[in-house]
Amino acid sequence: MYWLGLDVGTGGSRALLIDAKARVRFSHIAAHEEMHMPKPLWAEQDPRDWWRASQLAIRGVLKAAGVDGSAINGVGLSGQMHGLVLLDAQREVLRRALIWCDQRSQKQVDEINRVAGPENVLRAIANPVLTGFTLPKLLWVRDHEPELFQKIAHILLPKDYVRLQLTGEFASDVSDASGTALFDVVHRKWSDEMVSVLGLNRATLPAVFESQQITGKISEAAAQSTGLRAGTPVVGGAGDQAASAIGNGIVEPGAVSCTVGTSGVVFAYLDKPAYDPQGRVHTFCHAIPGAWHVMGVTQGAGLSLQWYRNRFAPNSDYDELTADASLSPAGALGLFWLPYLMGERTPHLDAAARGAWVGLTAKHQASDLIRAILEGVCYSLKDGLEIITGLGAAPRLVRLSGGGAKSPLWHQLFADIFYQRVTTLETQEGSAFGAALLAAIGTGQFPNARAASKAAVVEVSAKEPDPQSAAFYSERYQIYRSLYPALKPVYDRIAALDQ
Ligand code: XUL
Repeated sequence: MYWLGLDVGTGGSRALLIDAKARVRFSHIAAHEEMHMPKPLWAEQDPRDWWRASQLAIRGVLKAAGVDGSAINGVGLSGQMHGLVLLDAQREVLRRALIWCDQRSQKQVDEINRVAGPENVLRAIANPVLTGFTLPKLLWVRDHEPELFQKIAHILLPKDYVRLQLTGEFASDVSDASGTALFDVVHRKWSDEMVSVLGLNRATLPAVFESQQITGKISEAAAQSTGLRAGTPVVGGAGDQAASAIGNGIVEPGAVSCTVGTSGVVFAYLDKPAYDPQGRVHTFCHAIPGAWHVMGVTQGAGLSLQWYRNRFAPNSDYDELTADASLSPAGALGLFWLPYLMGERTPHLDAAARGAWVGLTAKHQASDLIRAILEGVCYSLKDGLEIITGLGAAPRLVRLSGGGAKSPLWHQLFADIFYQRVTTLETQEGSAFGAALLAAIGTGQFPNARAASKAAVVEVSAKEPDPQSAAFYSERYQIYRSLYPALKPVYDRIAALDQ
């Protein structure tokens, strides 16, 4: 018997199967269309494309395993967080979704703070409202597409749109709902305060479940289109980061992960909600009942390297690029990369921030540019780690996962720049793996997330910080830290331009 995890990511949808011992047995990914960027810092995707890719991924993984849907005991979902999916009363998609990295809604964030008051917001949702979150995106649609706004009957997060197609149910889970800015993270329910102060319609929001709870069953129609068996239970699942954390064993105090996907995230377990008064890191519900987590997010982590490849080295793969980076000396001959390609969340909370190489000379080669990208992403995630440490969630262990964990050079850079032992795990399937584990928990294969994580976590490699390199990078990090404040006035002037 197997459990299926489906992650609706940014680049693609991935389905994977785990067995009764929590080992990954098969996986299949189907790519999404590239995100649509009508303007700089705007980002949209069509939910119907996620569903198309999800069906392909599910069919693909069943085929790879050579089984039919009757071999699947349960399904768990994870997905990119914060996206705004809007449906009309006929459940039709009203417009492309504004996704997590879309930064167009600063005016709406300002309005929310004006109307609700920043302290009330922090009390209501344990976080400040950020441009990346769902609520200001909704208000942007209200302000710019009023006719369409009138037609909204349902608001969903990305993976929950796929859930609707699979089960016919409108549902979400506590970890993903935490990223909407409409959710009372402390009490794990929609925030009536935020809904009412902004005059929203509570009936447009889905029911919310804990991550391992069953939210519905595969419908006849979805059984036809995916090959799953009608009646197979589908659990709540989790936002991609909380799901990954289940697979990475971030299920107890002191456990921290660093995940480099399109975004980059440092993530720590909390057994009670603690938040940064400046809101530079997010405090969200964990995919474990009665637990929370705190995370710092770099908007353009893997995205920095992907952008470089797509624009300048379309015929290279990531292994070639990171091998090239190792030809450049530590510090990339004084070159720094600011990974703010989609604005930045941690620590700057600034939608207007932009990417930059600083320190270019005529001597710099492509290898230096790439190395600076790898180092810059590490510095940016170190910013998050420092804030998390300041909140009392200092790491006892750091586990690296996501695409970025595949490069030995990047792995060592994280160890040196974090000045921590950094390990990687056998399974690098991240969110889809966590989603499958949640399905196994919800259908009784494991008693809880800790037991599932224990079965799942196999460390395969560890890198210790090299004290000399760590000292070298700690000095460079101070220079990195001085770059954003220096550029901030320039970013503001660029943001004021008509683009
Ligand atoms: C988390 C976040 C990203 C996205 C895309 O807050 O925005 O992890 O979910 O991966």
